[in-house]
Amino acid sequence: MHSLVRTATAVLLVAALPSLALAQASSPPLTDAQVKARVEALLRQMTLEEKVGQLNQIAGGLFPGAKPEGVIRQGGAGSVLWLNDTKKFNELQKVAVEESRLGIPVLFGLDVIHGYRTIFPVPLAMAASWDPSVHERAAAVAAREARAAGIHWTFAPMVDIARDARWGRIVEGAGEDPYLGAVMAAAQVRGFQGPHLGAADRVLACAKHFGAYGAAEGGRDYDPVYVPEGQLRNVYFPPFHAAVVAGVGSFMSAYMDLNDVPAGGNRWLLSDVLKKEWGFPGFVVSDAMGVGNLLTMGFAKDRGDAARRALAAGLDMEMASGVFPENLARLAKEGALPMARIDDAVGRVLAVKVRLGLFERPYADETRVFSVLADPAHRAEARLAARRSMVLLRNERRTLPLAKTVASLAVIGPLADSKADTEGSWMVFGHEPAAVTVLEGLRARLPGAKVVHAPGPEIRRQVPSMFDQFTPGPKKPPQTPEQGEAAFQQAVETARGADVVIAVMGELANMSGEAASRASLDLPGRQEELLKALVGLGKPVVLVLLNGRPLSINWAAENVPAILEAWQPGTEGGHAVADVLLGDASPGGKLPVTFPRSAGHAPLYYARNLTHSPEGSRMYNVRYWDLPPTPLFPFGYGLSYTTFSFSNLKVGSPQVRVGAAATVTVDVTNTGTVAGDEVAQLYVHQRAGSDSRPGRELKGFRRLSLGPGETQAVTFTLGPEELRYWSTSQGKWVQDAAAFDVWVGSDSTATLHANLEVLP
Ligand code: BGC
Repeated sequence: MHSLVRTATAVLLVAALPSLALAQASSPPLTDAQVKARVEALLRQMTLEEKVGQLNQIAGGLFPGAKPEGVIRQGGAGSVLWLNDTKKFNELQKVAVEESRLGIPVLFGLDVIHGYRTIFPVPLAMAASWDPSVHERAAAVAAREARAAGIHWTFAPMVDIARDARWGRIVEGAGEDPYLGAVMAAAQVRGFQGPHLGAADRVLACAKHFGAYGAAEGGRDYDPVYVPEGQLRNVYFPPFHAAVVAGVGSFMSAYMDLNDVPAGGNRWLLSDVLKKEWGFPGFVVSDAMGVGNLLTMGFAKDRGDAARRALAAGLDMEMASGVFPENLARLAKEGALPMARIDDAVGRVLAVKVRLGLFERPYADETRVFSVLADPAHRAEARLAARRSMVLLRNERRTLPLAKTVASLAVIGPLADSKADTEGSWMVFGHEPAAVTVLEGLRARLPGAKVVHAPGPEIRRQVPSMFDQFTPGPKKPPQTPEQGEAAFQQAVETARGADVVIAVMGELANMSGEAASRASLDLPGRQEELLKALVGLGKPVVLVLLNGRPLSINWAAENVPAILEAWQPGTEGGHAVADVLLGDASPGGKLPVTFPRSAGHAPLYYARNLTHSPEGSRMYNVRYWDLPPTPLFPFGYGLSYTTFSFSNLKVGSPQVRVGAAATVTVDVTNTGTVAGDEVAQLYVHQRAGSDSRPGRELKGFRRLSLGPGETQAVTFTLGPEELRYWSTSQGKWVQDAAAFDVWVGSDSTATLHANLEVLP
């Protein structure tokens, strides 16, 4: 064994780059003065009605009978959403550019969440890569495909912190942690938008849903949120702020009440914090029907009141409820709304259109769409991203990797051969799922082996999803109990003859996402029962999980020898799972969320404050009398096919003054016999100060690839950025002179410890 010591720099992956011949023209970055001059010139020519039109986003095709042409011709729509048709984009744009009085182009927006044609792992999975470069490139590929198809604006990234696994939309974000969330938010903004708004092959990004949507009471989607200012600023806002710093051009307000004021009508949120304090220069769009909701939610007394209060609060564009066009001009004429606010909102929308280069390049090039969407480099990126996002949760007796000589495999479970569920939630409208399933991936990887399959009993939501109507293909009637039983028996019989069983289980795509919360975190349907029967056959069983949220797989965690969390891995998912199961890639992802033992644990997250009975004390375990209070798998957790050790933890200057930075170094060694990835994670705890602080907070991480026996030194910086926080007792940001615990290790339970003291 040899030992190499070198300073860790960001791991640069060799990415296949899209071929340059297909590049789209770029608009040069414009100065603020250039943009301002053009926007003001436009504003001078616009009627009040045309101004209001720019603040109106209309449905372009989702609802039957939607006829946007007439509205666009009148200058009555600044943006169109829910349309995914390149030819139609160009037809509508022609109406805007050639037939409306001022020829202002329309901004076409769509939810391009984890891919357009090439689907990447769901965002929660991408966060599990702990590799912002992979997330940035995924967003760049999604942007390139979407832009080629004529889309200018994606409603992504979703940067809501989610600490309650019951909440369905946990799948759309980066999980529970503000530090990891902020890094991933910035990476996605860079990926979607590129170096500047208007860069070739990129789109306008939208940080959503501002703010604290993920703190819905009981994890019930859309429910009210009560979060104090300190927690908003320390936990829920950092990813949004990071998106602003990364230059995000738009924001979306959230649906729900935030401390009894709907986010879409919340002046403190949209104007005081976002626009004034953070200096956000872009525009804010409501969530769908969000302005109309101000009425539904018992905040506004009528639609006029909703329009007035939303705009006055700082909302700039309305999504789909038609309240602005119905009321804003009248309100302005009556003097109920200052013209300056309307001009500011319109100016923000126009400035983005100018920067995007829409006036110069309003149309999509229909000849280039096919070749961009078929670019093989995109699929290569998706496979790499899927490999890097997988988390090995358990691997007893080295069950994995499988021997490359394995002769027969049974691939069992309702998700083993489902393209839609391999891609996961949030497909763009009209998308036909085309993922390589786990079954297909294993068959392709093992052409000489006998690979048999049985799905077992179906799984299904008890309450259908409101989005099912938009998914293509015929809808199957539910299985009868007898059919389910026959499928169960068939699955066990199929497995009986194989050498190794791969159980592919978890959740359907529509079991997470919007309006997809759950009251239980167990494996749905009869999956656990089937798993028990498969383990009972006495063969090696590997559980491959496809899911969009933490699951309380307590039985599996103790009885199934190997468990790979593959999330919803996207187009190349089946190939990537085969790569990992056969050892062509060693899993190196880490959990971006705590896995609770039960839904009754929720919300459960690692960064909790210390208490009367601290963790590790005798009293700690009596938090519940029926279940240990500890997580099933902690935040940051993930195994590898090799082993690692952390040593030589040093704080460069153990005493620093407030405002100064300390360096923290540690050596990470691959102590095993194969290459693998480890994520060095830095946690801190402030021992005393103005406020109580969490027992641990992530403040740095680095994913490393290490050969057998190799050691890398990793350096982190702990400065005022990492050590300050919003103090509730002081009502402002503070950095206390205080003593800190510092830990570095492979997950949030790291034990390698050092001290840091911050002096006044
Ligand atoms: C969702 C948003 C989405 C919007 C447009 C809403 O229901 O909450 O995340 O961007 O629809 O499709």
